[in-house]
Amino acid sequence: MQCAQKLTDNIYWIGSNDWDTERFENLFPIPLGVSYNSYFIDDEKTCIVDSVDDSIRQEFFDNVEFLLRGRQLDYVVVNHMEPDHCSTLVELIDRYPNVKLVGNRTTFRLFEQFYGRPHPENYYEVKEGDSICLGKHTLHSYTMPMVHWPEVTCTFESSTGVLFSADAFGTFGTINGNIFADQLDFERVYEDEARRYYTNIVGKYGVQVQNAIKKVLPLGIKMIAPLHGPIWRTPESIQYMIKKYMHWSTYSAEKKGVVIAFGSMYGNTADMAQQLARLLSFRGITDIKIYDVSKTNPSYIIADAWKYSHLVCMAPTYNLALYLTMENLLYELKALNFHNHKVSIVGNHSWASAAMKRMVDYFTNQIKDMEIVGTPLDIRGALHQDQLKLFAKLADDIAKSINETEIKTFSL
Ligand code: FEO
Repeated sequence: MQCAQKLTDNIYWIGSNDWDTERFENLFPIPLGVSYNSYFIDDEKTCIVDSVDDSIRQEFFDNVEFLLRGRQLDYVVVNHMEPDHCSTLVELIDRYPNVKLVGNRTTFRLFEQFYGRPHPENYYEVKEGDSICLGKHTLHSYTMPMVHWPEVTCTFESSTGVLFSADAFGTFGTINGNIFADQLDFERVYEDEARRYYTNIVGKYGVQVQNAIKKVLPLGIKMIAPLHGPIWRTPESIQYMIKKYMHWSTYSAEKKGVVIAFGSMYGNTADMAQQLARLLSFRGITDIKIYDVSKTNPSYIIADAWKYSHLVCMAPTYNLALYLTMENLLYELKALNFHNHKVSIVGNHSWASAAMKRMVDYFTNQIKDMEIVGTPLDIRGALHQDQLKLFAKLADDIAKSINETEIKTFSL
């Protein structure tokens, strides 16, 4: 059944929710689900801005039919040709064969790669700054490469100030009736998921995100309509989210605090994580989080590593190398271009030491611009009373470093 909601007098949200998919991109758990947003502009020419994932196909076509009221569909703007926004495109063209598919060369190449059905007669190629007049509404296209794929554009509607921002400013989590972020306790309910979405999906492309922000800020944005999650329409909420993006895209910690990520086979490294957390707490440090890298999906640890100023990695040697789940976490942090944070390292081994060296190598040679706080430790087996002083010294060093850390602030 149609579930359209108004953004403005003539612009509608025509998305829906996916509660069923376990993992976004078959990688990231989405316990709060995800929405796929699409938008309909009702004017002399009718236009859809981005389509949706196949999982909400029925609602999408119900919405389109309801809003068209028997008219032709004139345009579909494709800001992003990833299948979570495009797996209904071929059917849309089949239903409305005269529709113009608005995109760039890469958009159309990806379309053909995925769907194997070239539709050159429908292609309407746009370049940076090109405009399409729908009647009262005018769409302006701006490239936003690698936020999050190379073909990505954003589209600015100049009569209403609505920025259709593709994946940018989106979040995991369904839309539960309220489509606007200011109708929700976004900070409490969605902020962690927005950060997890950003860091894991777009996190690698901080420079490109900063370029995109610089490009769209002067446009006079009144509303931001992303492809996932709620819509931003008040000056306060728009500023809040853009500032978050400034933090995240510059890899700047948002808060003083420590994320202790440990891998442990028999509980000994877990014990060390708890001891260090206790010693840090005695030194007045707050916001300490402990994660077992074998239990918690890395996407959660990565999001918190981004958020907090300090990270501690603790893991044993395994098969003469680094414990696999820690190796995976550090590989992902490197792949996502994580940097500009402080890290401490504790290895553990029984008869051959490799873990500590591997972690030091990651944070000195592979993950750039990281400050190692304290002397990396390499414990043999279990932690004993006489080694506690090593942890006390490490806790001193981390506490001092946290107290001296300055958290960056951003203004628009
Ligand atoms: Fe929501 Fe990059 O796709």
